[in-house]
Amino acid sequence: MNISDLQKFKKNGEKITCLTAYDSSFAQIFDQCGIDIILIGDSLGNVIKGEKNTLGVNMEQMIYHTRAVANGANKALLIADMPYQSYDSAEKTLQNAQLLMDAGAQMIKFEGGSEQQDCFEILQKNRIPVCGHLGLQPQSVIKMGGYKVQGKDAKSAQKILTDAKALQNWGVQTIVLECIPAILAQQISTQIQIPTIGIGAGKDCDGQVLVSYDMLGITQNAPKFVKNFLTNGNIKSATSDFIQAVKTSKFPTAEHSYQ
Ligand code: KIV
Repeated sequence: MNISDLQKFKKNGEKITCLTAYDSSFAQIFDQCGIDIILIGDSLGNVIKGEKNTLGVNMEQMIYHTRAVANGANKALLIADMPYQSYDSAEKTLQNAQLLMDAGAQMIKFEGGSEQQDCFEILQKNRIPVCGHLGLQPQSVIKMGGYKVQGKDAKSAQKILTDAKALQNWGVQTIVLECIPAILAQQISTQIQIPTIGIGAGKDCDGQVLVSYDMLGITQNAPKFVKNFLTNGNIKSATSDFIQAVKTSKFPTAEHSYQ
């Protein structure tokens, strides 16, 4: 997949598939199975480093893992996360985004809405492709009081919808929607022209992402929105089953969504 395909997928109603990877071997398997996007997520703080949250991940680690994934993938679009405190000024955002692009990312992702306007604008000006991340923002877990579903009341739902429209205006190519009610994700997905990629955001997003360790059943006490696709078979068949389930709208079901 390349960046211009994102828009084509949305227009044609083809669901976008995305899994996280942190190393070359997994990236190669996901890529060979035909995944559309590989996200080098800062979830590596949880699943690789064994930390409670993503706040301890830094640029050096993101560059290392982005390089490793880029070595294993050929076809998938590579999106790398900007870690905590790596985008707290426009200049710093540009500098760190460039480092991730140099390491092999084709797009960068960071969390937040209108409060990040300067960061979105500087990347747009410098033609660095951006993926937004709204709803539950793991880097704000302390401020948000834990890993909680966001946008449950009218005011916070409106803020997420307004932010999604603002991000689109600031040139963002796609937006991850994490842990929001399915109905809100559906409204956002129909009201913006860029694709949404959901995680715990219901079936009506334009695509779905899972942390690969969750999809493979490695994570213990996984959240409600997770499905273990490795119930029998191997990593390749689990990956193909995930891709097939998303493409045919069989995943997520109501069981994996918040109403
Ligand atoms: O870091 C990550 O894995 C993510 C996903 C939860 C979308 O941002």
